[in-house]
Amino acid sequence: MIDTVNIGGVSLKKTAVLAPMAGVADRAYRLMCREFGAAYMVSEMVSAKGICYSDRKTAELCTITDEERPMAIQLFGSEPDFMAKAVEIVLQYEPDIIDINMGCPVPKVVNTGAGSALMKDIDLAAAITESTVKAAGKTPVTVKFRSGWNPDNVNAVGFAKALENAGAAALTVHGRTRDQFYSGTSDFGIIKAVKEAVGIPVIGSGDVTDLASCLAMYEETGCDLVMIGRGSYGNPFIFSEIESWFGEKPYTPPTVEEKMEVMLRHIRLIISLSEKTEELAIHEARKHAAWYMNGCYGSAKFRGRCYQLSSYEEAVGLAEEFIELQRWHNAQKR
Ligand SMILES: Cc1cc2nc3c(=O)[nH]c(=O)nc-3n(C[C@H](O)[C@H](O)[C@H](O)COP(=O)(O)O)c2cc1C
Repeated sequence: MIDTVNIGGVSLKKTAVLAPMAGVADRAYRLMCREFGAAYMVSEMVSAKGICYSDRKTAELCTITDEERPMAIQLFGSEPDFMAKAVEIVLQYEPDIIDINMGCPVPKVVNTGAGSALMKDIDLAAAITESTVKAAGKTPVTVKFRSGWNPDNVNAVGFAKALENAGAAALTVHGRTRDQFYSGTSDFGIIKAVKEAVGIPVIGSGDVTDLASCLAMYEETGCDLVMIGRGSYGNPFIFSEIESWFGEKPYTPPTVEEKMEVMLRHIRLIISLSEKTEELAIHEARKHAAWYMNGCYGSAKFRGRCYQLSSYEEAVGLAEEFIELQRWHNAQKR
């Protein structure tokens, strides 16, 4: 039996959850990961101010379909009042959880005082959490942040305690400083330290790329849930491997034929969910197509061709060629 984790009344399977990833983990991506067992997902980050000024992208970013639940909407902002107003608006979309982004390292966000810049101002971070919690009412509020701003200011433990006191229902810790962006490695030690310091569930994030690293994250940090971001690129199968392990069910990795079938389904989903023409929507699909081929023979050469795809039919042809190449390669090895 798979255990569950309770976040403010929302019950989640204790397997693995999909990380919020702006520009990557859109609805099509989330639906693929859900199909393969992602226990929970978080929207791409949405600007609190943008929502208040009725940004046209709000509905696109905040709409949650039944298949995606349980799901959080993630907000970023630097002003408690705007956060509260934004919460009132996003509650219309009935998120299961509202998550606050206090980890984004991108200058465009940090320069407004939001994202990981809040790690430099614990009082403001706590005030934002408090005001979000108050506005959210019964909907639980969680916060995602990093280990600290830079190596001299690794303050995740004190930060976590302040947010717990401010009413956060759970915390996600990405074990890198803001300075690191996405380089170096995620420090599991700081995730463990946060877990030991607070009484609310802690989700560990950073560098989980397979079952082994997922189990290492659970074991080394004692975290309640493991979050997977880049490890799911072209690899929604990672969630079924982890779910199978916890459910004590056998797992068979996908064949290249299955990978290509899932890739094509993902592309069809991107096209069908897009408001753009197929020709434009396929641009969105190019990086995903390339990721599904990663790690296979000849994938570097095919990556270039993925980035030139201009129709679904071309993707079908490319998938067939890729399968042929793998068959040829396997025959050579025999
Ligand atoms: C392309 C990309 C976009 C991201 N966007 C967000 C975001 O919108 N909100 C957020 O909290 N984290 C965001 N992150 C951080 C991830 O959620 C995650 O914490 C980080 O990538 C480390 O986990 P990983 O090693 O499993 O990828 C993003 C990461 C990537 C690579």
